[in-house]
Amino acid sequence: MSSLVALLLGPMSSSSQWDDDEERSNPLVFWSLSFFFAWGIYLVFDRYQKLHTSAIKFKFQVPTAADPNWSSLYIPNAHLESHLEDRSLLPGRDMPGRRYITAFDPSTGLHIGTFLADAEQEIEEKIKWATRAQREWKQTTFTQRRRVMRSLLKWLVDNQETCANVACRDTGKTQVDAALGEILTTCSKLEWLMHHGEEYLRPERRKNNLALTYKIAEVHYEPLGVVAGIVSWNYPLHNAWSPIIAAIFSGNGIVLKCSEKVIWSSTYFVNIIQTCLEACGHDPNLVQLTYCYPDEVETLTTSPLIKHITFIGSEPVGRKVAIAATKHLTPVTLELGGKDPAIILPQTDLEKWASVWMRGVYQNAGQNCIGIERIIVHSTLYDRLEEIFKERVEKLRVGSVMAPSPDGPVQVVDTGSMIDSTRFRGMEKLLRDAEEEGANIIGGKEYESPWLEHGQYFGTTVVCNAEPSMQVAKEEMFAPVVCLISYDEVEDAIDIANGTRYGLGASVFGPDQTQCLAVAKELDCGMVAVNDFGVFYLNQDLPFGGTKASGYGRFGGPEGLRALTNVKAVMVDRWPNFIQTAIPRVLDYPIRSLTTSWNFTSGMVRVLYGDAWRDRFQGLVTLVRAMRADD
Ligand SMILES: *[C@@H]1O[C@H](CO)[C@@H](O)[C@H](O)[C@H]1NC(C)=O
Ligand SMILES: *[C@@H]1O[C@H](CO)[C@@H](O)[C@H](O)[C@H]1NC(C)=O
Ligand SMILES: *[C@@H]1O[C@H](CO)[C@@H](O)[C@H](O)[C@H]1NC(C)=O
Repeated sequence: MSSLVALLLGPMSSSSQWDDDEERSNPLVFWSLSFFFAWGIYLVFDRYQKLHTSAIKFKFQVPTAADPNWSSLYIPNAHLESHLEDRSLLPGRDMPGRRYITAFDPSTGLHIGTFLADAEQEIEEKIKWATRAQREWKQTTFTQRRRVMRSLLKWLVDNQETCANVACRDTGKTQVDAALGEILTTCSKLEWLMHHGEEYLRPERRKNNLALTYKIAEVHYEPLGVVAGIVSWNYPLHNAWSPIIAAIFSGNGIVLKCSEKVIWSSTYFVNIIQTCLEACGHDPNLVQLTYCYPDEVETLTTSPLIKHITFIGSEPVGRKVAIAATKHLTPVTLELGGKDPAIILPQTDLEKWASVWMRGVYQNAGQNCIGIERIIVHSTLYDRLEEIFKERVEKLRVGSVMAPSPDGPVQVVDTGSMIDSTRFRGMEKLLRDAEEEGANIIGGKEYESPWLEHGQYFGTTVVCNAEPSMQVAKEEMFAPVVCLISYDEVEDAIDIANGTRYGLGASVFGPDQTQCLAVAKELDCGMVAVNDFGVFYLNQDLPFGGTKASGYGRFGGPEGLRALTNVKAVMVDRWPNFIQTAIPRVLDYPIRSLTTSWNFTSGMVRVLYGDAWRDRFQGLVTLVRAMRADD
């Protein structure tokens, strides 16, 4: 390197000992040397940059239960309760007075583990640990935070299969469901935070009015402290990582409460983030995972140390969280249920979009907050659509991707199991009721796997000739069930789509994009895709959330990121040594004259905001007169 410097300096320093006419006279040598020198600088710079930004590698063990060939005890009747307290399954000594939660694979009924549920004291301690770690973390630079994101992204891409299998084991989904709903979405969020997170979180200049031209107006997005995420079980990787990475990228600590149905996988996924933080030189206590029985959740939701709550789950529980949060006026983002419609306009090419609708309905066995639950189709297309669904649904294979078949290998499966069977009887009743009211049901029953007798499966179901008034077309099913509803006029389709308590996502299909968009604008919901399904969630620059009973607030996008910050308005002087605010004598306490002080202020209003130049001039005259009268 030093010889390069010497060579480059040579031609430039004319009076030095390197003043050599021969070398200087050759411009080619000069420029190529300059080029190599610049390149050298770039390499050093690049090396330096990478030293601070490249992904840090860290190792994490593959859990034995992530192997499809893994086996353990079968829990009989696991389906009767979502969180069991079978003390005979305890891994260690029974601790009297404590409660346990049992994890099992809903697609096979295999016991995965039994976990000690957090009591009030443990939850409080976890909040304190995160609070302590956050004091240091909030000082980190965006470069440091980006590095954590990059390391997580690299790890996730390299370990996709393990992550998918862990999610499958705990929820009974298929690897493809996991890839689309968990891995793809989480990667997209990590990448978005890396590339655009800082842009939305760094201090932002705002516009100024005429009177304040001598000031600079800024908004600062400061970390809140420790936030909470209370999340649902349907996507254990995504639902854990998404709130965690948003929280830590914006400088917060987080206590995540996972559902009692996915403790095993959530523990695994949260541990990875803690390990990554540690590998990057930060305190892993910044991120805490808790799980407990519902009556202990208030310890989290009413804690004065929790500065924001993101809740993803059901409407009744969301309401309780929102009420509990009023204790310390903690802001809440609620993502509740949905009954997402897909509107199919006249002359839509059904064959072209059928695959999209199938995925939209049966992705994750319908346990998808933005899953299509109603297809509202023009009457001229209804029969053909029903035929398509009948044909395709009959071919779907329900089963487990985490259990070798009696013949040896794992069989090909289209949809997995449900998280548990607690709702099966209720769902079957809704479907029978619809049948009595005139609907034709394809499927509609619990599915008994021929060899996985402890699996909790519901058959893929189509409710043909559904009416908007039927309960099955109003209630969120969160199951592999779709209602096909026919309409005659586009206005009716909009009314039907708007006609439920919910307003989360929606989609509109049709040959004319302008017409689709016109319909999309009429829908009471938080997100719409035209000629696509759920694609708004793959662009993390967009906010995610709903209206009506689907909740309020947004996660995702700048809206979601900034919701995790204290949005602080800051004003400073543009030329602090030259001009600063001063109170004119006429307004200074003690006020000497009511009329002059009033004339001055009213004149000022006229100068600044008078409609015509004449007004403004008059205001100026009044103002100056008042000042002079004051002297
Ligand atoms: C599981 O076992 C089967 C049969 O014993 C074998 O063919 C298969 O390769 C194993 N799968 C894995 C992932 O180890
Ligand atoms: C949606 O439809 C309902 C029922 O027809 C209507 O009251 C509501 O105003 C509509 N929403 C919008 C945004 O147009
Ligand atoms: C205040 O304004 C009024 C009306 O514009 C004017 O008549 C009066 O002389 C002013 N008084 C002083 C003290 O400036």
